[in-house]
Amino acid sequence: MTEILIANKDSLDKAANLLRTGKLVAFPTETVYGLGGNAENDSAVAEIYAVKGRPSFNPLIVHVPDIEMAERYVKVNSVARDLMSSFWPGPLTLVLPRREDSKLSLLVSAGLDTVAIRMPAHSIALALLKAAEIGIAAPSANRSGRISPTQAQHVKDELNGLIPMILDGGKCEVGLESTVLDCASDKLKVLRPGGITKEMLEEKIGKVDWGNVIKPNSENALSSPGMLESHYAPSLAVRLNVSEVREGEALLAFGSSPLLGAKHMENLSPTGDLKEAAAHLFAFLRMLDLPEYKAIAVMPIPEIGLGVAINDRLRRAAAERK
Ligand code: TXA
Ligand code: MG
Repeated sequence: MTEILIANKDSLDKAANLLRTGKLVAFPTETVYGLGGNAENDSAVAEIYAVKGRPSFNPLIVHVPDIEMAERYVKVNSVARDLMSSFWPGPLTLVLPRREDSKLSLLVSAGLDTVAIRMPAHSIALALLKAAEIGIAAPSANRSGRISPTQAQHVKDELNGLIPMILDGGKCEVGLESTVLDCASDKLKVLRPGGITKEMLEEKIGKVDWGNVIKPNSENALSSPGMLESHYAPSLAVRLNVSEVREGEALLAFGSSPLLGAKHMENLSPTGDLKEAAAHLFAFLRMLDLPEYKAIAVMPIPEIGLGVAINDRLRRAAAERK
């Protein structure tokens, strides 16, 4: 059985102890719940891959309570320093060269000579990191390929019995994972859109390469949906950009004129607010993912601001399953 404990002084101490001794603990961040393990401990990191069923070539994000700890693990160049002072704590993960004397388990970077690192903007996550006094490797606390958890109960639904403890900090405010930015070379590149938008990044550092981010209706997406990695996937099929609901479908709506005719409708944001939509996305996908519906139909979401990350997750949820 996996315990869900409301975060307080006692449960935080308990969680920090579990982590220090190589056990896994799920904990809240501002983006999604993380499946945390001691990033300096090979067997703890190996256990993260095992519990998630995650392919060992997909590296993990190391979470730190401050820039000082980041500096012990990675080489922080001047662009990264600027980005840290602008966006940390917050949903921006930086990929940076690993320091030769870094104590991090080699498993966190899955064979690469870089490390993805971030400081979460969440008081419970920061308190836990400070109490544990080590970096915590944490992917989203879901089984590999499935919908990321934004509430403690989602984690329990995914990982019950596989980990000793879930720290409950309520609902995640952002609701989408961090933006992953590769800063290891001179050419900055976004590897995953997320809670920090293109507009926010470019206001600070000028143009960044979004080459990796799949555009809606790009030739790639149209001609070869199998190229898209299936991820964030509910059990039901997902149909995007719909203008009508088909018989038996559930509807994930957006905006003030939701389509009619769905067996079950959840509206990401009746006022068309992308921040609200991001915070609801994963929880609503879970709510609609019931065997009595034929598929989940999703209304169009504008490809601006947080909409870019929302659409990225939706396209992966809809991608052909392997
Ligand atoms: O918001 C988040 O980032 C959440 C919370 C828990 O912090 N974590 C999260 O972790 O989303 P995960 O494991 O689900 O996603 C990590 C992403 C993956 O796309 C992985 O490929 C990429 O970061 N990544 C990790 N290390 C990398 C590296 N050294 N180079 C390039 N990409 C890396
Ligand atoms: Mg994930």
